[in-house]
Amino acid sequence: MRRVLAGVLATSVVAGLVTLAAHASPRAAADEPVVVVSSTFDDGTAQGWTPRASEVVAPSTAVARSGTHSLAVTGRDQSWQGPTLNLLEKAQKGVRYDLSVWVRLAAGEAATQARLSVERRTAGTPSYDQVVGDTAVTADNWVNLRGSYTLAADVDFLSTYVELGSATASLHIDDFSLSYTPLPPIQTDIPSVKDVLADHFAVGAAVGTAELLNNHGQLLAKHFDSITPGNTLKWDATEPTEGTFRFTDAETLVAWAKANGAAVRGHTLVWHQQTPAWVFKDAAGNDMTATPENKALLLSRLEAHIRGVVGHFGADIPVWDVVNEVVDENQADGLRRSKWFEITGLDYLRTAFRVAREVAPDAQLVINDYNTNVPSKRDKLYDLVVKLRAEGVPIDAVGHQMHVNVQWPSVAETEAMLAKFVPLGVDQQITEMDISIYTDNSQSYPTPPAEVLLTQAYRYRDFFELYKRYSQHISSVTVWGLADDNTWLDSFPVTRKDHPLLFDTRLQAKGAYWGIVDPSRITTTTTTTTTTTTTTTTTTTTMPPVLCTVEYKVGSQWQGGFQAEVRITNRTTTPVNAWTLAWSFPDGQRITQLWGGVHTQAGAAVSVKHASWNSMLPPGGSVSFGFLGSWTGSNGKPSPFTLNGTRCAG
Ligand code: XIL
Repeated sequence: MRRVLAGVLATSVVAGLVTLAAHASPRAAADEPVVVVSSTFDDGTAQGWTPRASEVVAPSTAVARSGTHSLAVTGRDQSWQGPTLNLLEKAQKGVRYDLSVWVRLAAGEAATQARLSVERRTAGTPSYDQVVGDTAVTADNWVNLRGSYTLAADVDFLSTYVELGSATASLHIDDFSLSYTPLPPIQTDIPSVKDVLADHFAVGAAVGTAELLNNHGQLLAKHFDSITPGNTLKWDATEPTEGTFRFTDAETLVAWAKANGAAVRGHTLVWHQQTPAWVFKDAAGNDMTATPENKALLLSRLEAHIRGVVGHFGADIPVWDVVNEVVDENQADGLRRSKWFEITGLDYLRTAFRVAREVAPDAQLVINDYNTNVPSKRDKLYDLVVKLRAEGVPIDAVGHQMHVNVQWPSVAETEAMLAKFVPLGVDQQITEMDISIYTDNSQSYPTPPAEVLLTQAYRYRDFFELYKRYSQHISSVTVWGLADDNTWLDSFPVTRKDHPLLFDTRLQAKGAYWGIVDPSRITTTTTTTTTTTTTTTTTTTTMPPVLCTVEYKVGSQWQGGFQAEVRITNRTTTPVNAWTLAWSFPDGQRITQLWGGVHTQAGAAVSVKHASWNSMLPPGGSVSFGFLGSWTGSNGKPSPFTLNGTRCAG
């Protein structure tokens, strides 16, 4: 439901820019989106949008995504040029905004990419944040760029803009909106995760500066006694150009940790990603090849970087992921073929640990990696740790990232991972845990199915039970994010909404949280909290057993059309006679032809009845049907599905 303040709307339309800036109002109810800015250009003005440089913006009737006008942008000669809107008086610090804009190239322009960005300046120094990354655009269709943004710094300039891969292409934008959904208060009457686990290990979350503010900051302080800067200590953030160190955001996180009695894990000094290109350029500015000179130069840069970063924070950061993701189990020697390795061999590892120990003699030094449960990778990591430690390389701890999912890996394999390193006497840390609701790259749920969240809750329970059994060897367990409103898995390995953490997108405790804190509260129930501005009510819903599962696969998709296969499985022990499957398309798709059943469609609502020859779904058995459909804009998967009126999983 969209909150519309009719009076304000009417006045503001006259002013050109629809401004519903009611978000400071205590009357804004939780969970109802508030539109702060909406630009349709249908009044024939640019509604406050301007060029960034010498390009030209003007209202246009050549194309419009809705109404009569769009905004045309011509005369570009740099890829960063595009239409921009001042948000300084519109967006507040610490509020998570949703931004949405539609983009289309001008007629005749060749396909390119578009992105949606924010420029902010503090004391005149600009920073550029990406809201939506490179997205294919053409002159044939409107494409939606939609993403979220939280301003976490005090600024004296703030604007959003659309830019293109092409430096010269002309474009149109339409139907821009800036909105936010007020959050309910955080739950203060539930146990703190850090207290529940206080006898076992520190509990951490990976965060950025946006997570320190308002409700996010309260949630972080309540539940976590350790934080890991998710990006702000990486090389691209701390030393973007040689010898120029930037610590502003990391310092903000460290100061917050001090003020709130939380520890800080430093992540990370050496990685093959998020490392600026200059690091691997030779003295002449060309890409380094493996020569003795380049090796010496690269190791000296590494040493200077570690001295600069670790030295800056001193005792404030007592744990460092010194090296990240250096193992590749597919190499006979187990070593990732990164530029670090190609140019220096094993010496970058030796240098990194040696220098870190010299600069921070009391800090705990960690070798961190993902998939350390996979036996071949685990063993290669183990061999590397043994070899380096035998040489005297000061590795104090092994970090297991634990980016896992609702099916993989097994707890037994994870236990073998921990058990493997126990004889070495090294500390172990779980450094980046999250449990994706997806098990392959083709899945995408518009809303997470209750069954999957329940499985996730049990997985959190089981993994934390395991960690507790090994807590003598584990000093900290960190999850990679505070809540589901901000997780790296929304864009990795593909773009889709994931829900991998302990708190939901409204910062309320999930089954996953109860799995850790009190598993008895997830056995048959999930808790949903509905909130108004003054009261909080908690309702308990009993989980229905799974009766059916539905797999919906888009086999192929082309401009305007697609082909999909749907497979229904009966998960009960009784046959389902005369089945009918129903769903609702999220994006206006229409079925044009269907086989293996008989379909009807009214608006988004689809109902598919069995064909004469497949009317019976045996216990444990499946039926499939397929169809051709049409789509525009996006082609999201429908969910949920209901079979003869009963909701299915998947
Ligand atoms: C991720 C961050 O969370 C993202 O914001 C960023 O865009 C990419 O990196 N393994 C790691 C982390 O060691 O540094 C990664 O963090 C996630 C995978």
